[in-house]
Amino acid sequence: MRIQPARRVRGRVRLPGDKSISHRAALLAALAEGRTRIANYSSSADCAATLRCLRQLGVKVGQDGAMVSIEGGGTSLPETPVAALDCGNSGTTMRLLAGVLAGQPFAATLTGDASLRSRPMRRIIEPLELMGATVRAQDGGHAPLRIEGQRPLAAISYRLPVASAQVKSCVLIAGLNAEGRTEVFEKDTPTRDHTERLLRWFGVEIETGERSGVADEGRATAPFVALAGRQSLTARDCFVPGDISAAAFFIVAAALLPDSELTLNEVGLNPTRTHILDTLNLFGLRALVANRREQNNEAVGDLEVRHNPDGLRLIATSEREYATLRGPVIAGLIDELPILAVVGSQIEGGLEIRDAAELRVKETDRISATVENLRRMGVEVEEYADGMFIKGRTSLRGAHIDARGDHRIAMAFAVAALIADSESLIDGAECVAVSFPEFFPVLESIVER
Ligand code: S3P
Repeated sequence: MRIQPARRVRGRVRLPGDKSISHRAALLAALAEGRTRIANYSSSADCAATLRCLRQLGVKVGQDGAMVSIEGGGTSLPETPVAALDCGNSGTTMRLLAGVLAGQPFAATLTGDASLRSRPMRRIIEPLELMGATVRAQDGGHAPLRIEGQRPLAAISYRLPVASAQVKSCVLIAGLNAEGRTEVFEKDTPTRDHTERLLRWFGVEIETGERSGVADEGRATAPFVALAGRQSLTARDCFVPGDISAAAFFIVAAALLPDSELTLNEVGLNPTRTHILDTLNLFGLRALVANRREQNNEAVGDLEVRHNPDGLRLIATSEREYATLRGPVIAGLIDELPILAVVGSQIEGGLEIRDAAELRVKETDRISATVENLRRMGVEVEEYADGMFIKGRTSLRGAHIDARGDHRIAMAFAVAALIADSESLIDGAECVAVSFPEFFPVLESIVER
């Protein structure tokens, strides 16, 4: 994909339905009693993989564009799959579906593409085995995973070893088929809580709160989520708000290009996902939320973003001369760190990102991919095991970008290419389909040159 520099972005953008919410809505609808219609289901290849796997498990799934309908038959799935369930590139499909399979009276195999087969799965194998499932993995704890379910499972009280919404959701979903009360303690701050909100929407009673005596060193309390097993879910239609992680690329384009003005309609504004807005606000972003409302327990609104003529600044409260992102906020920004690294190259003083080693086990090693591509664009970057330092206020050079098959790297550098001095070429740009197949046409529709 060739990208020419742009003068500004203007107009209105409608985003695909949120990827995290779409996966969860489909999986929970399959476990509910009755028919659920899901409006604005994500157009991503990842969420299509979830529907494909559900069909292989005998669930009746209908689809008409972004409208998906699912006939749920309760927490016991209808069919033992004959072939392996292919999750494609989707970590969320594999980790959440593993939680469903753990409580079934049959065995099934989960597999995926080469990237997914290299990602860490011990983080879900450990709790699922504690609950009584048997999981066979490849050396190193990788997929394909053969899961022999157990019905009922045993409830556990589990402390997440990594701040991961996927692992939390896997355990909670398995907990639906467990005898007793399943509790999950988060590592520090709450990770995205879409599973909890949707479980409530489908009529499951869950408890959330803070408990003392279980937190990591240096913290008084830890957030927890708990549910009693063997509750039934009731089918109920839902609407998936626009994906804020997809919106992030356009928000940053508008923030970086002078005289830009964008409206992003019906974006999901769940507080566990809006750290990107808080962070960009600290850097000087001008964004307003209009028409805020709630739909199936999720906040939704229209975002109006303008370029700030004063430019992007470092965080004023820091006594350092550069901005820093580290600690618990990192989990809430995890998918936005590549595009924030691009922002870092434009802010006064630069940007340091730490405590982000998880980025190395995403669809690709996103620390290495971001550092390499920023350098190709002429940015001075220092790489750390858990992050990077990006020198600020750098004029970007048009460059040959290697997306390494990672959708978020391709989109982050497509935005960087808009502010470069000459054309950029993105290798492997088609991987954007993993989360946002319409990304390039939508980008072209708002770009002015
Ligand atoms: C997701 C959680 C995050 C995120 C991923 C989607 C989810 O992963 O990076 O894109 O839908 O729960 P982790 O939970 O592994 O951090």
